[in-house]
Amino acid sequence: MLREDIELILRSAGVENFARESRWIVQESVSDEAALQAARRRAAGEPLQYVLGNAPFRYITLDVDPRVLIPRPETESLVEWVLKHAPHGASVLDLGCGSGAIALSLAHERPDLQVTAADLSLDALTLARHNAVKNNLEDRVEFYHTDLFSAFSGRKFDIVAANLPYVTLAEYPLLDAEVRDYEPRMALVAEDDGLALILQSIAELDKYLNKPGMAIYELSPPQAARTAEALQSHGFEAAIVHDLCGRERFVTGVR
Ligand SMILES: C[S@@+](CC[C@H](N)C(=O)[O-])C[C@H]1O[C@@H](n2cnc3c(N)ncnc32)[C@H](O)[C@@H]1O
Repeated sequence: MLREDIELILRSAGVENFARESRWIVQESVSDEAALQAARRRAAGEPLQYVLGNAPFRYITLDVDPRVLIPRPETESLVEWVLKHAPHGASVLDLGCGSGAIALSLAHERPDLQVTAADLSLDALTLARHNAVKNNLEDRVEFYHTDLFSAFSGRKFDIVAANLPYVTLAEYPLLDAEVRDYEPRMALVAEDDGLALILQSIAELDKYLNKPGMAIYELSPPQAARTAEALQSHGFEAAIVHDLCGRERFVTGVR
């Protein structure tokens, strides 16, 4: 009965995967009233992951709320690339860690890595630290409050893995309301056609990356060529890496 009521609420609101989402809402709610309340939030347009309060990412589950971007499936491929290329014992910086998805997955899947997570948002760091405890990884990851590399004066990493904001100012108003109205703007938008933070961090990479060292950036396909050129002009061998849908989603730099 409850399940049917919830399906009706979601279907009437135009939620595409109403059957599957109703099942999750019922499974994860502590009472009928909580399930109905969750369905009403979802029907009003709130992302399912915020309604449920968590999101799966690779082999861990992260608590999420509007303080952090909901981790996206394509970012799992960024983690895959680091896992494949990181030498034993490498130090890795997750720059713009948000919920902690990248850093905590790396720590979970590669106990040999020395993992650091950093973000400009104190709210995001609070939740990322909470997610470390939730996944029993609090002793495995260091957290820093920083604007790009500013907190890391004199320190170098073997690998920088960055999913920094890359939505352009022009794209932002056109995003799905589910993204624009709920997810933090500072996790999404960057100036200079979405590339301001990525290009600034590439310009500073030399100071914060060991030799040999490598970096990987997640971005949108139209930004790949310019990012690869920037890495090349700073002395890196650049490559464009596709996501599982075949889109140019990552640019890597190795030196
Ligand atoms: C696209 S979200 C990625 C979050 C997470 N890494 C993930 O993949 O789900 C970008 C993150 O970068 C952070 N950020 C924005 N500007 C930054 C800056 N100047 N320095 C460090 N982090 C920044 C945001 O707060 C946000 O958490």
